[in-house]
Amino acid sequence: MRVSLIAAIDRNRLIGKTGGDFGLPWDLPDDRKYFKDHTVGKPMIEGRKTYEATKKLLPNRTTIIVTRDRNFLVEGALIAHSVDEALELAQTEALTLGVDEIMVSGGGQIFTALLPKADRLYLTEIDGEFAGDAYFPKFDRSEWTEVVRTHHPTNDRHAYAFDFAIYDRVTPSA
Ligand SMILES: NC(=O)c1ccc[n+]([C@@H]2O[C@H](COP(=O)([O-])OP(=O)(O)OC[C@H]3O[C@@H](n4cnc5c(N)ncnc54)[C@H](OP(=O)(O)O)[C@@H]3O)[C@@H](O)[C@H]2O)c1
Repeated sequence: MRVSLIAAIDRNRLIGKTGGDFGLPWDLPDDRKYFKDHTVGKPMIEGRKTYEATKKLLPNRTTIIVTRDRNFLVEGALIAHSVDEALELAQTEALTLGVDEIMVSGGGQIFTALLPKADRLYLTEIDGEFAGDAYFPKFDRSEWTEVVRTHHPTNDRHAYAFDFAIYDRVTPSA
């Protein structure tokens, strides 16, 4: 089962602002579509703060919310109290759905906790620098191979250029 992190990051690995409204400092409709295309039909793990930022479950995927709060419940979502429990729930759900990929959709704490277990990173790398306080974790590029890079230029709907990059973890040869 592949575990994949999916994030949009700026030049400094910034992913957003904690607290308040869903704090994406950019508006990139084609990235939203890319996110949808890669998460629909799959189990998706997210942190309680990312859920709280929108208070909305995205349709056609199973959302697993990670929290330490034993009383936290959201109708229509699965709740996990550790990242390992989230992975177990996601694995069972993936088998039920007949898919072989678990998506981890943030935010910063959950990306940090699950990076060591990740096999693939879907990173939308935005050509800009923004203000905020939530970050994608630093990762050692030597442990990852870039398998895809597609450039998306600025246009009337996108004020910033960005690349869709996919990295796979380098598996040590036997
Ligand atoms: N650019 C992007 O691609 C992207 C994607 C997603 C989110 N974001 C941004 O990321 C920001 C939120 O990130 P964040 O780092 O503040 O929060 P987060 O990772 O979404 O959620 C943090 C919460 O997850 C729970 N948690 C974390 N580690 C846990 C563990 N080991 N076991 C059990 N529960 C655990 C805790 O919930 P409790 O406090 O309830 O215990 C914690 O407060 C927002 O600004 C959002 O807009 C950006």
